[in-house]
Amino acid sequence: MSGLFITLEGPEGAGKSTNREYLAARLREQGIDVLMTREPGGTPLAERVRDLLLAPSDEAMASDTELLLVFAARAQHLARVIVPALQRGSVVLCDRFTDATYAYQGGGRGLDHERIAVLEQFVQGALRPDLTLVFDLPVEVGLSRAAARGRLDRFEQEGRAFFDAVRSTYLQRAASEPQRYRILDAAQPLEAVQRDLDALLPGLLELCRG
Ligand SMILES: Nc1ncnc2c1ncn2[C@@H]1O[C@H](COP(=O)(O)OP(=O)(O)O)[C@@H](O)[C@H]1O
Ligand SMILES: [Mg+2]
Repeated sequence: MSGLFITLEGPEGAGKSTNREYLAARLREQGIDVLMTREPGGTPLAERVRDLLLAPSDEAMASDTELLLVFAARAQHLARVIVPALQRGSVVLCDRFTDATYAYQGGGRGLDHERIAVLEQFVQGALRPDLTLVFDLPVEVGLSRAAARGRLDRFEQEGRAFFDAVRSTYLQRAASEPQRYRILDAAQPLEAVQRDLDALLPGLLELCRG
């Protein structure tokens, strides 16, 4: 596949969506074909699975159900959107991907990482992001940005310990594979975060033109 697969990770309120737009604009200025997408979701069917995952419900969702729904949506997203775009040579900017599964269902829910790895292999084969940007910030900063947006989804309703585990899982994964990850200090003012992204741009363009 000739494209480039870039994922943006971090908790709610970290600035993934804002900075995905920013990065797409900088790449498009350089004549690069960019596809922006997100998980869970990214196709009409996968967005319906997203609704199931995010909606607060009276019936508690078993952690395994949650994990399988995440990967069911991902299989659809890969087949219909991500793989075709990479085959066309596009740069795919995806708001969350399998690192989020390790962080939320692994770290947050406490599911065994080995079981996630089995599903990752089953659904993705050898496909992994080429680059993952981790928007890192203190838990309370992310929660207050997310809360300012209004009604909380099923994940946003979780407690402090859940989000501490999410954050530390992202940081551990980034530390274990430093060539794939870039950690951004997302607690800074937006302009400073975007200056940091600008600094990554030359390396990114080199990867795109690989
Ligand atoms: N560095 C930043 N400093 C202050 N506010 C920010 C920053 N980055 C994003 N925001 C604001 O925080 C909110 C969440 O940003 P968003 O990009 O939607 O985050 P995410 O997609 O990671 O949940 C938005 O209102 C956005 O304008
Ligand atoms: Mg977002």
